[in-house]
Amino acid sequence: MPQTQSYYDLDLPARLLLGPGPSMVHPRVLRAMATPLVGYLDPSYLAVMDETQELLRMVFQTQNPLTLALPGTGSAGMEAALYNFIEEGDPVLICVAGYFGERMVEMAARARADVRRIDAPWGQVISERQVAQALDERPAKLVAIVHGETSTGIAQPLHGIAEVVHRHGALLVVDTVASLGGVSVPVDEIGIDICYTGSQKCLSAPPGLAPITVGPRAEAALAARTTRVQSWYLDLTLQRKYWNAERVYHHTGPASMMFALREALRLVAEEGLTARFERHARVSRLLWEGLEARGLSMLVPPEYRLASLTTVRVPAGADEAGLRGRLLAEYGVDIAGALGALKGRYWRVGLMGHSCRPENVVTLLGALDRVLAG
Ligand SMILES: Cc1ncc(COP(=O)(O)O)c(C=O)c1O
Repeated sequence: MPQTQSYYDLDLPARLLLGPGPSMVHPRVLRAMATPLVGYLDPSYLAVMDETQELLRMVFQTQNPLTLALPGTGSAGMEAALYNFIEEGDPVLICVAGYFGERMVEMAARARADVRRIDAPWGQVISERQVAQALDERPAKLVAIVHGETSTGIAQPLHGIAEVVHRHGALLVVDTVASLGGVSVPVDEIGIDICYTGSQKCLSAPPGLAPITVGPRAEAALAARTTRVQSWYLDLTLQRKYWNAERVYHHTGPASMMFALREALRLVAEEGLTARFERHARVSRLLWEGLEARGLSMLVPPEYRLASLTTVRVPAGADEAGLRGRLLAEYGVDIAGALGALKGRYWRVGLMGHSCRPENVVTLLGALDRVLAG
């Protein structure tokens, strides 16, 4: 074994990130990450946390005091959203219409909930009637559902389901990892009790933070727990004390990530939520028209299609992974294959945050033309 080995400076290829996340990061966000570090209780860092919290309320469209960014990726948000509100044996209802609904079932089972599920075939949405029927049969403490199912590209309607869930006295947990910041999710208007996302998709910061917001009904449920939250790290009653005026040390604040998220959210605020949602809708239509013009079909019907993620059927007989590999190797364009039952038959194209630009759609369609031509 040599005693020393030389490693070279990182020199990764430039990629156009058009998969299900991470998305492209604005240079301003990268610059913010290079800001020199300060201590986790430094007044200047606490001010950054406060500003980030305010900006998160803007993007969640909520007034919820309990709004913060957990260290960890979107799955940390999912665990926090479930573990903080489930005690052993609690009845919960999970809506499954794809891969991430399945992940929620797995997590709720690990939290020792009494888990029931309702399913929709991949590519379809869960109906209000299904939720009502399930809750009529047996009440649940909590109902969890994915808004933007990244495995299929559906945008799950939420208003009717929220109404049904509340009529039955349950809490509504919504996963917006693939949609928040690209598609409107007005948390307070819909009445979502617990909503979480990830930093790396439509918010266009690097992966590593999981913003979450908790409404008054859910806060009351948290206060009424008789047992401690299973996870010490994700316990929102502890996390909250670092974010509120108490400023109690809980973990070392991930400063560079917080600088990045704050800058990414500042970009959202500068663009304006309405303009941002319109951009995602407009640019995704450009993609869909381009795909249709090439005879390529999509899994999800237009009325339920998620602007930030599209599942495209691979032409019959084509080599799914081979063509995707060529897009990456020859054109630097990164799209993803599909998961589960759709694997090998669909591609997933993300138009999220800073990736969601007409010039990127044109580049992808041009590159696709070349690889499909042989
Ligand atoms: C809808 C949805 N939920 C949860 C997750 C998990 O997020 P992460 O991979 O950041 O842990 C993802 C990631 O792709 C997702 O798309």
